[in-house]
Amino acid sequence: MDRLVVTGGQRLEGCVTAAGAKNAVLPVLAATLLGAGECVISNLPQVRDVATMLTLLGLLGVSVKRETGRVIVDATTVRSVEAPYDLVKVMRASILVLGPLLARFGEALVSLPGGCAIGQRPVDLHVDGLRKLGATVSLQHGRIRAHAARLEGQRIVFRVPTVTGTENVLMAACLANGTTVLDNAACEPEITDLADFLMKRGARIHGAGSRRVVIEGVPSLRGAEHEAIPDRVETGTYLFAGAMTGGRVEVNRCRPGHMNAVLSTLRNCGVEVSEAACSITVKAPRRLRALDIHTLPYPGFPTDLQAPVMALLCLADGTSVITESVFEGRFLHIPELWRMGAAITVDGHRAIVKGSDRISGAPVMASDLRAGAGLVLAGLGASGDTRISRIYHVERGYEHIEEKLRSLGAVIRREHVPS
Ligand code: EPZ
Repeated sequence: MDRLVVTGGQRLEGCVTAAGAKNAVLPVLAATLLGAGECVISNLPQVRDVATMLTLLGLLGVSVKRETGRVIVDATTVRSVEAPYDLVKVMRASILVLGPLLARFGEALVSLPGGCAIGQRPVDLHVDGLRKLGATVSLQHGRIRAHAARLEGQRIVFRVPTVTGTENVLMAACLANGTTVLDNAACEPEITDLADFLMKRGARIHGAGSRRVVIEGVPSLRGAEHEAIPDRVETGTYLFAGAMTGGRVEVNRCRPGHMNAVLSTLRNCGVEVSEAACSITVKAPRRLRALDIHTLPYPGFPTDLQAPVMALLCLADGTSVITESVFEGRFLHIPELWRMGAAITVDGHRAIVKGSDRISGAPVMASDLRAGAGLVLAGLGASGDTRISRIYHVERGYEHIEEKLRSLGAVIRREHVPS
């Protein structure tokens, strides 16, 4: 059980490179299950969730060859259609294999994801969508069992735009008989990236990235090469880190076009933001302005950056209100920020953050991936040492976070805690 020790107070300056997007790579890897043939996926981030997905594919019988920065996956030889509890409990995104296994093999078993630190996260919309395509879905001994001789294209209207739900049903629909229409679909860039990969494999998809996606089923898919998009959440995290330390930070190999809500937030806080084709630079004054933020599905402000922006606003001039509209219960970082002296009050799904010119380092605990990133950022802005335990959560989605922050001038080290 390692922890990170951040000694705050350094102004960050320099350039870091964005990794491939974890939340784009996970569905793309699940989509390799949809057909035989070699798939080469590059820009693979070295993060724990990607390693977990590759372990899961290996367990299912997929051939997985890891090389630096890429992986060669061939799902010709799948021998199991079951995602076991041991893997699903460490990574909810394992649910992404449900649609592809069902569509290709007529059957899939995936353990029901259990409790989750960011509130209630049901999978009813995944299940309803697959049922609409003609699958029989039941819960047996803690596992979702789905089966269907052949899926049939249908119109599906999502009650709320679910990211992995859209991805699961989209993947299944690629091999269904006839046309599927997904309405109120999620339009995150990770969905467009998944659709791009599927189309390289021979799928027929129109409108990915909009609220209506139309999929014309095809009998089979082939192998393909694909480079994952850059990680917009990681990019935003480093931009916030630079901004909250009054620094100057450039993130390169990113997609500014995926970051509009984040970049306007930074500008509204008083940060100078410049964009080039594949890079973003922030230059911040010593003190930022408070502002109100609503998390929303894309293209709104991402819930995955709510904890990092809260850390920034703890040090802003004035009072900010952060409304978490995507996940209830995604405020577990707040009690940890209190330990650092932050003045935050919670009113339902709103957090009222009274900015101060000083928070102080303290021992804190990461409860999930993005909460952990928020605490690292708070540590950068605090006086003294912040010890963040349970950093395995952070390693699920941030590649080499210590090295990247250190290259910007942060004082951060890893401490091994004997169990
Ligand atoms: C994806 O989770 C991401 N995970 C999350 O990132 C991200 O926070 C989230 O989208 C929102 O952007 C991956 O891409 C692997 P949702 P997902 O289904 O798909 C409700 C990270 O840290 N809902 O879009 O699970 C749900 O409760 C992770 O990288 C249902 O009601 O989120 C929520 O209120 C954390 N029924 C809303 O929809 C369902 O069946 C959106 O959730 C599914 C969802």
